[in-house]
Amino acid sequence: MSTATRDEQPLLRVRDLTVGFTTAAGETNVVKHLDFDLARGGALGIVGESGSGKSMTSLAVMGLLPKGAKRTGSIELDGTELTTLRERQMQAVRGDRIAMVFQDPLSSLNPYYTVGTQIMEAYRSHRTGVTRRAARKIAIEAMERVHIKDAARRVDHYPHQFSGGMRQRVMIAMTLSMEPDLIIADEPTTALDVTVQAQILDLLAEIRRDTGAGLILITHDLAVVSEVADHIVVMRDGDLVEQGPAERIFCDPQADYTRMLLDAVPRIDDEIGLLRTTSTEETR
Ligand SMILES: Nc1ncnc2c1ncn2[C@@H]1O[C@H](COP(=O)(O)OP(=O)(O)O)[C@@H](O)[C@H]1O
Ligand SMILES: [Mg+2]
Repeated sequence: MSTATRDEQPLLRVRDLTVGFTTAAGETNVVKHLDFDLARGGALGIVGESGSGKSMTSLAVMGLLPKGAKRTGSIELDGTELTTLRERQMQAVRGDRIAMVFQDPLSSLNPYYTVGTQIMEAYRSHRTGVTRRAARKIAIEAMERVHIKDAARRVDHYPHQFSGGMRQRVMIAMTLSMEPDLIIADEPTTALDVTVQAQILDLLAEIRRDTGAGLILITHDLAVVSEVADHIVVMRDGDLVEQGPAERIFCDPQADYTRMLLDAVPRIDDEIGLLRTTSTEETR
């Protein structure tokens, strides 16, 4: 527990985070001595090529590292050290305080239940004494907040009745209904086509504005974080390459690796302009 008062304290404070595995080739660290803060209500982008340790970082924060992973370092949420919590306490943190949106909503949604049932169950599993009727109302409201049209009817539909982008909205609705302090979105738009990507990013930015929740947006694509994140952490092979305010990372990158990531999106302004134009045509 740090001595700073609540307002000075970042929402999330990660220090010297290291995640390693023992493989046939020996011990390898896939996240190495990572330090970063997420300000209250802030949006942090974690960027790096595939394999740089982004997902392992987010899973470490969630307490959901795969079996065999060894983690050291400190992860404080609101001044509470998470790494020493018992699994039951960590489950409560995941339900109440941190929620995660994954790349592929289909892997997180059960095909045999309606989306409404799934949002309701997620909600009720963390709120005792909520009636089905009240939970259903909350599910519909959450779907409306993510701009799913005709939510009162759509709540009874199954995941396969939604497009990829709409399924991601359902996942975000599920996340919202939990009223988390921190939302971690790991490649939330990677499986979607570009126009839908822009809409989901707009939605995440809107939610962050409206709810005051902190957001960690993880992506291999710098273009994705450019509009949403105010602070950016660049990772490569488990190392922290550089970090700083988003404008600084975009306008004055210090590392060759960051410049390379930026070069991978050479027409970053054009592309975003294009995304915005096309996205206005889409159904919301
Ligand atoms: N269970 C595991 N055992 C050994 N290595 C793993 C395991 N899971 C992931 N890794 C390795 O950890 C590294 C970082 O993975 P990850 O965090 O998923 O990268 P990113 O999300 O940035 O693409 C990768 O090299 C990956 O192969
Ligand atoms: Mg990943």
